[in-house]
Amino acid sequence: MSSLDQALRAALAARETLLAQLHSQGTDCYRLFHGSQEGAPGLTADRYGPQLLVQSFHHPVERDDLLQLHATINQALGLELQLVYNDRSGSNSRIDRSDPVYQIEPAALEDQIGHEWGLNYRVRARHPGQDPLLFLDLRNTRGWIKAHSAGKSVLNLFAYTCGVGLCAAAGGASEVVNLDFAEGNLEVGKENGALNPQLPTMQFIQSDYFPAIRQLAGLPVSTRRGQKLPHYPRLEQRQFDLVLLDPPAWAKSAFGTVDLLRDYQSLLKPALLATAKGGTLICCNNLARVELEDWRQQVLRCAEKLGRPVRDCQVIRPADDFPSRDGKPPLKTLRLQL
Ligand SMILES: C[S@@+](CC[C@H](N)C(=O)[O-])C[C@H]1O[C@@H](n2cnc3c(N)ncnc32)[C@H](O)[C@@H]1O
Repeated sequence: MSSLDQALRAALAARETLLAQLHSQGTDCYRLFHGSQEGAPGLTADRYGPQLLVQSFHHPVERDDLLQLHATINQALGLELQLVYNDRSGSNSRIDRSDPVYQIEPAALEDQIGHEWGLNYRVRARHPGQDPLLFLDLRNTRGWIKAHSAGKSVLNLFAYTCGVGLCAAAGGASEVVNLDFAEGNLEVGKENGALNPQLPTMQFIQSDYFPAIRQLAGLPVSTRRGQKLPHYPRLEQRQFDLVLLDPPAWAKSAFGTVDLLRDYQSLLKPALLATAKGGTLICCNNLARVELEDWRQQVLRCAEKLGRPVRDCQVIRPADDFPSRDGKPPLKTLRLQL
């Protein structure tokens, strides 16, 4: 047995209880192998409903190892998952779409449906973006939101494919607003809404974060060194009961720079102001090199300085399909009660 197969079998054994629990909760999207912590750095294997998505980030997987991994997982789960292999070991973690190691079966390229917390999500093996359409390490946060949205107005910032919005709608939110600047991501969010026709409809705002959140917060939309700003949708100042702030690690636009390492505050401040008194702001930081304690202090200080002190601050940890030997998972999530 190869060392990879051995590591994979140990990972599957460690997940037995968790997988039974997830299946009973209507979830069939989860991480089966988290290589950085389980013996093969740079390799991950995720189940997305009927598909098995294997990704390599450091170097391509050998074809025999890939096929063995697929067989071992199918045997352990008693399923015939469709294999999708994305080698992302090239520059900027871009998928090598020439597929020199393994050609995806045509059936796996068709649109599929995965499930989480009893909701349907669009699963697509290949799409214009690099990442899968649902980030699995945010599952516990989505679960918390589903359980605590009843009667609340919810603002989902950097909404991507609107998984958080969907959970809020399923949890009985009075209103759900998803905000992202990428039309394609919001389109998948709309598809996710349509895949759950029993839920009330969500709203979608296609806008850059900075002008949108500053208008909601009642702050001026600032220009960069006097440059003329591109068009942005006009929004009324208002607050929400529950706000989710889950930005990418780094992104630059005409309106500003998202930089979780150097400047979390310019994202956090307006989000705090757009959260109602007595409301909840859930904020995330997915940069591995940022320490939870340092970031937590920074967040609490920023709220204090803004006159929006935090009454309670709780950490939401990823589930055990994202094990972390040092107790420091890259994705850190704080739930702030204002
Ligand atoms: C890491 S994803 C966020 C994950 C998401 N919160 C979720 O629940 O899956 C990053 C998202 O931020 C969006 N984005 C990046 N910069 C932005 C900006 N300046 N304004 C609005 N959206 C932005 C991208 O289009 C992408 O959908």
